[in-house]
Amino acid sequence: MIRAAIIGASGYTGGELARILSLHPEVELSVATSRNYAGKKMSQVYPHLTGIADIVCEDAPMAELTRRADIFFTAVPHQTAMAIVPELLEAGCKVIDLSADFRIDDPLVYEAWYQAHTAREYLAEAVYGLPEINRHNIAGARLVANPGCYPTSVILPLAPLLKNGLIDPDTIIADSKSGTSGAGRGAQVGTLFCEVTDGFRAYKVGEHRHTPEIEQELAKLAGRQLTISFTPHLVPMSRGILSTIYAKLTRDVDQQELSDLLMSFYQDEKFVRICRPGQFPATQYVRGSNYCDIGCKVDTRTGRVVLVSVIDNLVKGAAGQAVQNMNVVCGFAESLGLATVPLFP
Ligand SMILES: NC(=O)c1ccc[n+]([C@@H]2O[C@H](COP(=O)([O-])OP(=O)(O)OC[C@H]3O[C@@H](n4cnc5c(N)ncnc54)[C@H](OP(=O)(O)O)[C@@H]3O)[C@@H](O)[C@H]2O)c1
Repeated sequence: MIRAAIIGASGYTGGELARILSLHPEVELSVATSRNYAGKKMSQVYPHLTGIADIVCEDAPMAELTRRADIFFTAVPHQTAMAIVPELLEAGCKVIDLSADFRIDDPLVYEAWYQAHTAREYLAEAVYGLPEINRHNIAGARLVANPGCYPTSVILPLAPLLKNGLIDPDTIIADSKSGTSGAGRGAQVGTLFCEVTDGFRAYKVGEHRHTPEIEQELAKLAGRQLTISFTPHLVPMSRGILSTIYAKLTRDVDQQELSDLLMSFYQDEKFVRICRPGQFPATQYVRGSNYCDIGCKVDTRTGRVVLVSVIDNLVKGAAGQAVQNMNVVCGFAESLGLATVPLFP
């Protein structure tokens, strides 16, 4: 048994971590932190966890907590994570960070999109935690940078095509739609019921902070620098992301060849499901699960490929992927504790 801590347990990803870890046979949740809910049980913060995660939230110094857990999930906002993670690492703990603080390799790029980085010395050793693409590096890591939700939904469908030179890397357009849990549990006007229901809108057009993360990881797959057009949208649902991605094909490809490529690239992956030709995924078929479902279409009229991917932003886009990374780091079977069947309808 390993002991796990959730820093930021009262947030949406923290709650989801508690739910998933309760199903993990090799993990005991030994620490859960929250400033606002200190002294309250997780089941008071999240009633669906009653009898499942009754651990009491606390607001204790990290120096004390490091003695009580082996692996830490930091499920806190960016900037907060970089203030906490160095102390955890120096105490000998492993860290899966769900924030953006250790995802960007180049501190100058991070600082251009976020703010000053106060733990730059840890960027070089942080491993980008997308297991399907990077699991050999994750295995020995002590600091895993868990990917963003939008980046997970964009990188997974594009990886086989970029690795095989099937698309022009300069022509990628990603159009993504997310449910409102992507913005966290903190009260904000933009995610109030009246602001979100009965309509949907684009936001942060051309300037969303996940853009440099997506470009960085796609560039590694393509073997050269690239830029993308990325437009996120907020849709009136609690969870789920659907990304529609377009790119120009570099040669004539037929539908069967494209489908076969995606299927063979991901044939050994438990959490990536490729739709049959002519079928496309939907968020309701991955809800609550760690799956990324992908559909594809060769648009012969325009010479473009259209990829459609879906994930649950709180699971494959955050907590589920974090547990998948923990499994790789700890040498457990990668799907341990993650066998949840999507909840439909
Ligand atoms: N939501 C998603 O779909 C998603 C997906 C991928 C990645 N992420 C990333 O995961 C992280 C957590 O996201 P979330 O959606 O769970 O956010 P959230 O619902 O807003 O929760 C944030 C958590 O961090 C704690 N916290 C906030 N400020 C803190 C501080 N200064 N010191 C200590 N604890 C602090 C909060 O608890 P108290 O205020 O009670 O201490 C709360 O438990 C973020 O970095 C986010 O970008 C989120």
